Amino acid sequence: MSEQQQQALSDGYDPFEAFDDVIGGDLRDPYADFAEKRAKTPVWKGSLIGQDMMPEGMVPPESWTAFRFDDCSRILRSAKTFSSTGYDSTIGMVMGHMILGMDDPEHRPHRNLVANAFREKSLARWEADLIGPICNELIDRFARRGSAELVRELTFEFPVRVIARLLGLPEEDFAQFQRWSIELIGLGADIERGLAASESLKNYFAGVVAERRRSPREDVISDLVTADIDGEKLTDEAINSFLLLLLPAGAETTYRSSGNLLFLLLTHPDQLTTVQQDRTLLDQAIEEALRLEPPLLMINRTATTEIELGDVTVPAGGDIATCLGSANHDEQRWENPDAFDIFRKPQQHLAFAFGPHMCLGMHLARLETRIVVNAVLDRLPNVRLDPDGDDPHIRGLIFRSPTSVPVLFDA
Ligand code: HEM
Repeated sequence: MSEQQQQALSDGYDPFEAFDDVIGGDLRDPYADFAEKRAKTPVWKGSLIGQDMMPEGMVPPESWTAFRFDDCSRILRSAKTFSSTGYDSTIGMVMGHMILGMDDPEHRPHRNLVANAFREKSLARWEADLIGPICNELIDRFARRGSAELVRELTFEFPVRVIARLLGLPEEDFAQFQRWSIELIGLGADIERGLAASESLKNYFAGVVAERRRSPREDVISDLVTADIDGEKLTDEAINSFLLLLLPAGAETTYRSSGNLLFLLLTHPDQLTTVQQDRTLLDQAIEEALRLEPPLLMINRTATTEIELGDVTVPAGGDIATCLGSANHDEQRWENPDAFDIFRKPQQHLAFAFGPHMCLGMHLARLETRIVVNAVLDRLPNVRLDPDGDDPHIRGLIFRSPTSVPVLFDA
């Protein structure tokens, strides 16, 4: 462990536990309530996010929540009627004005600037040189032990390291970078800490951005400093906001989704064996886990005009959440929706949302998950859930992921 990593951990700070600040409680099964809401109040006047989960001092706006797939996808597609600018007064407090909180005409050119780096084709070159080796380095640490806790030892560390490398940050900065990222994401739990982390990250990035302006390299920060919109270079503020968004977007969700898939496969050994024997099934297993247990359960929009949704009228300015977790369990679209079944007919789910803000990093997320699961299956023979584990389970209302994934394997 580097000196800086030791320093970051010296005050008893546990990055993994800090990530739990944001999940929204140890709720194992939100889906029964969602099913009832879909049946009785598909557009419900209320918010699933309690006041205790909001940043201190924030007054909750008048809110509605959509639970059915069709309503959610309509809201996400209709960006003119359902604006994303509400993010500016929530996570924008620590990230600034970033693409997630932009509407068109501002959104598209900003998104296009970085979209190229996250296309499937562009990622292919990173797979062998960068992403695969990071995963193998992490597995090297426990491959001879015969047991491991895959969340703490693998899925938690992996995506933040990938993002740091894609940004071209030096290895010795990783622990500090991870800590600031987690504090930034945990703004709902501690706003002061979130704001302080945001300042630290901005100062940190200022040095890196200045350096890349002097000598650009092959990394995402260099893409940003050399890019322009209609001949105008991006300001440092715009670059910073984008970089601050990439942390939670890239690290938090992917670690949760790979944990969910590993947990679901290990608790469904027949399907695990099938995937083990035929890796062409892995892609559909990834989609099924994202459908059944999306790492992020809801996202919000603001109505720009009075609008009818089902038999409910949402006024202009009303806050409307789309419950992605519920949409993905809609019985109108999926038979037996609460079951994990990798053999389902492929259908669009909403784990990555939909419409103009659909996740920019989805190909990277899928690639990382494919690499992690393949590495686990290749390098940990006869991998199985440790029966003596501490009641591992998937939980959370805002974000969902397993408490732990303890495994045994033949070393
Ligand atoms: C399984 C993992 C992931 C999930 C479930 C996920 C989910 C989402 C969702 C639901 C949105 C839409 C938010 C909204 O419209 O309000 C989104 C947007 C976004 N995601 Fe992801 N994400 C994942 C991984 C990643 C990764 C790895 C990156 C990049 C490193 C990334 C970067 C982004 C960015 C930049 C946006 C904003 C796009 C825009 O506003 O146009 N995500 N993601």
